Amino acid sequence: MSVDQRPEIENLLAEARTFPPDPAFAAQANAKPEIYDEAAADPVAFWERLARERISWFEPFTTTLEWQLPFAKWFTGGKLNVAYECVDRQVERGLGDKVAYHWIGEPGDTRTLTYRDLQREVSKAANALLELGVRTGDRVAIYMPMIPELPIAMLACARIGAPHTVVFGGFSAEALSGRINDCGAKVLITADGGWRRGKKVGLKHHADEAVSDTPTIEKVIVVDRFGEGVHMVPRRDLWWHDIVDRQSDDCPPVPVDSEHMLYLLYTSGTTAKPKGILHTSAGYLLGTSFSHEMIFDLKPDDVYWCAADIGWVTGHSYIVYGPLKNGTTGILYEGAPDTPTWDRWWQIVEEYKVSILYTAPTAIRAFMKQGPQYPEAHDLASLRLLGSVGEPINPEAWLWYHEHVGRGKAPIVDTWWQTETGMILITPLPGVTTTKPGSATFPFPGVEADVVDGNGESVPLGGGGYLVLKRPWPAMLRGIYGDDERYRQTYWSRFDGLYFAGDGAKRDEDGYFWLLGRVDDVMNIAGHRISTTEVESALVDHRAVAEAAVVGVKDDVTGQAIYGFVILKAGQEPTDALAVQLREHVAYVIGPIARPKYLMFVPDLPKTRSGKIMRRLLRDIAEGRTLGDTTTLADATVVETIRDNTGVAEE
Ligand code: WTA
Repeated sequence: MSVDQRPEIENLLAEARTFPPDPAFAAQANAKPEIYDEAAADPVAFWERLARERISWFEPFTTTLEWQLPFAKWFTGGKLNVAYECVDRQVERGLGDKVAYHWIGEPGDTRTLTYRDLQREVSKAANALLELGVRTGDRVAIYMPMIPELPIAMLACARIGAPHTVVFGGFSAEALSGRINDCGAKVLITADGGWRRGKKVGLKHHADEAVSDTPTIEKVIVVDRFGEGVHMVPRRDLWWHDIVDRQSDDCPPVPVDSEHMLYLLYTSGTTAKPKGILHTSAGYLLGTSFSHEMIFDLKPDDVYWCAADIGWVTGHSYIVYGPLKNGTTGILYEGAPDTPTWDRWWQIVEEYKVSILYTAPTAIRAFMKQGPQYPEAHDLASLRLLGSVGEPINPEAWLWYHEHVGRGKAPIVDTWWQTETGMILITPLPGVTTTKPGSATFPFPGVEADVVDGNGESVPLGGGGYLVLKRPWPAMLRGIYGDDERYRQTYWSRFDGLYFAGDGAKRDEDGYFWLLGRVDDVMNIAGHRISTTEVESALVDHRAVAEAAVVGVKDDVTGQAIYGFVILKAGQEPTDALAVQLREHVAYVIGPIARPKYLMFVPDLPKTRSGKIMRRLLRDIAEGRTLGDTTTLADATVVETIRDNTGVAEE
């Protein structure tokens, strides 16, 4: 076979285990198989029906979809208010005393906010913003730890139609000022700091440094988390409790157009300037809340915990907007999973009787590494559904999650989506879909996805290629703030008329989608395009391995060779014999072509702050090059540790 006849990405790893829905779960499930049919018959009519039924319009919309590729407008002519939908509507329908959030601080302090509390606090915070001169359309930057004032601030912005941009609290002053300057925010809401791993992590000094460089910021509101005082700049800085507490709790929500900007969320590229992903109001609210109800099978009595940080899109869509719109009781936890010990999450699940848990594979693998004794020490019987998001979940991690957290019963929803997509787009529907560990299964109703080759031609079942989306969906990004051309270039130029997600994917013979990671992460070994995800899954499949990352490094013979970085489970010894075994294991599971040429045992892996492995950096390490920019690292010392580690085992 010549190189150009080879498939875009090889399909090598076969996972045969299947998990059909439990009939008892199916009988009570929110999702019914018929919604696929209704949506497929007429996707626009499907979304139109849902929008009419689910949103309390101040003015009804006149047009469901205006689609001028690549620009979509949904539900035009309509007016709504997102904060009203998420908060006031719940109070009006009798849920004022229902808990919206159980908040748990890392040191153990707690707060409970009902929907009525939220309505009062959001209204006061919105009045404070109005007092500071923030008007509908003005941008507000938010840089905070995971404390209740974070969602309150977001909803306060939404109440007056001021788009927010939340910058994750772990980002640097430079990252913050860059984002503020890109969108020209007028006010910054921050805090003195928050707790992380038993330590106080200050934010205010980063905020000060950032604001020294942001001419548009007029005022800074500071939440007092520690009660110890911080440096306050006269005439610019105000304590939250000084300005918010004295406001009236009456602040009428401002009706805005369906397409009014709700927020910007910046996604960082490692080299390029961050992109301000633009989300608007009605379509986003509909897409996130409807998907939340179906995919998480949300019932009135559920206690739902999405363990992400609100600073990421997962938190925006599935901690704040989707769940609140559904009147959900949610958990907000400020801190780290290992503080004070590795069973902190399981304690929380037991104490609050959490019934739905949504987290990332990186967290699951971290728990796997510590061993099942932590979840096993707690009563997790309340858990009835589990979710995963953020990267491909290796079958072994899926099975561990299933067995040790879900007690072999709770269905798992592996949900694929992006900051850009706003809502989950590829996922099982619990009670309907037979799952396969490691597969995100099928497109959500009303969503059309495909796997295409380099020419944009659909790849037959069984093959791999590029994941694309073929029609607009309500929660999709509306563009990149201030840069239509970049929007077109980044997402719509690779394949004519198709949204290119940047991910590789394959479909098996049954049509299941398997995500293969970012296409930049595809290796080329002797002309075979092999996905890093599959080799990593094969390594994690070995009983000694907790986590693995592989990259392709230059090789004189094969073009690229596979270099694996491996974290062992607690108690496993990193020996040469084990390295040999692991290589053979990959060759056995996938095939000799995928046998890693190099292997390094490492204590940790460099990750972005949202937990994605930084393969670019690993490639630098593997090829012995000088390191690129490391500022988006979760822990910069990891790189040093890896570099100092001399235990490279070469084939
Ligand atoms: C990856 C997070 C495989 C993917 C919501 C995507 C996944 C990127 C999955 C977006 C999944 C997310 N299986 N890969 N279930 N979920 N990804 O913008 O590469 O932080 O393009 O949004 O994460 O990351 P983002």
